[in-house]
Amino acid sequence: MKIATIVGARPQFVKAATVSRIIARYNDIREVIIHTGQHYDENMSDIFFRELNIPEPDYNLGVGSGSHAEQTGQMLQGIEKVLIDERPDWTLVYGDTNSTVAAALAAAKLHIPVAHVEAGLRSFNRMMPEEINRIVTDRISDLLFAPTQTAVQNLGTEGLAGITCFSGDVMFDSVLFYLDMLDKKGMKEVMRGLPEKYMLVTIHRAENTDNPENLKQILAAFRRSEHTFVLPVHPRTRKLLNTGFTTPPNLILIEPVGYLQMLLLTRNAVKVLTDSGGLQKEAYFLNRQCITLRIETEWIETLHDNWNTITGPDTEAILRAMEAPVPSSPVLPSFGTGNAASFIVDRLLKS
Ligand code: UD1
Repeated sequence: MKIATIVGARPQFVKAATVSRIIARYNDIREVIIHTGQHYDENMSDIFFRELNIPEPDYNLGVGSGSHAEQTGQMLQGIEKVLIDERPDWTLVYGDTNSTVAAALAAAKLHIPVAHVEAGLRSFNRMMPEEINRIVTDRISDLLFAPTQTAVQNLGTEGLAGITCFSGDVMFDSVLFYLDMLDKKGMKEVMRGLPEKYMLVTIHRAENTDNPENLKQILAAFRRSEHTFVLPVHPRTRKLLNTGFTTPPNLILIEPVGYLQMLLLTRNAVKVLTDSGGLQKEAYFLNRQCITLRIETEWIETLHDNWNTITGPDTEAILRAMEAPVPSSPVLPSFGTGNAASFIVDRLLKS
């Protein structure tokens, strides 16, 4: 069996690393890795391949940044060429980025079956580019791997139950697998110069980085707080910050970090504030209370007992959530048992 794995952006490298590790155990599966080039900076791409031992991509399409149409269009052209040459039995796509939807569309038009990992997530907010990418990808896929029961239900509601499997979440597998490596020499470098107690922040979603007012409100909450905040800055957030924002003195900006360093930063944080989907879950898996700087979440399982609180970019709500007591209840096993990747590869082999 030949599987074409198509990735392009940070969170996809993490998910693909976990599934590729399982694929590598099978002599009868050949994996071809196609990197669209959506993310290209050293610490947005290469570091993940190195740290997570992902095989070097067989193809890098070098698409880079652009408007949604430019980026997706170039990906479609590049992916189509490779798929015609390689003729895989399955195309494996992850998550909800422009790379995901381009890969699914290119493959579906060539009648190459598409399997979507992390299917069925819905925010029900079509202002998010990711929501459009998810809906389109799920609709044209042949096999949907849902990470949670909520995702299974969403797909059922859309008439897709017949091609849906509950796999559990490959990001849960990843955290369990890589946690052991965190104490390795080199990882701890990231902690140098940081205070012992800090809140970890990430901000990169279009709704916060394309809207200066949202970012202002978030920074106002930090300014009024006595905590120290550590923010690994995504390039698109850096662009907005460079347009004349003054950042509060208790906010430490650092360069984007790799996956293992991010896990370490999360595990050592007092709380996590983020607009990322993946980090909401990683915080939950590592028993760190999360504050979600968006107006909704797809990961509603994390909301119980205030393990995750949705504040949007509202200064007062963020301040309240930062002072809220940390829950003592256990986190729930809603994301599977840590064997999602094995389940996915087994299921593909049975197809
Ligand atoms: C993308 C995904 C988002 C995901 C995120 C993870 C889409 C629509 N969005 O958002 O769902 O959560 O990746 O990080 O696919 N840039 C660089 N260097 C890079 C990559 C990007 O400087 O290596 C800058 C460019 O200015 C670019 C901007 O960041 O225009 C945005 O990058 P892009 O890949 O379009 O979207 P993300 O915000 O990263």
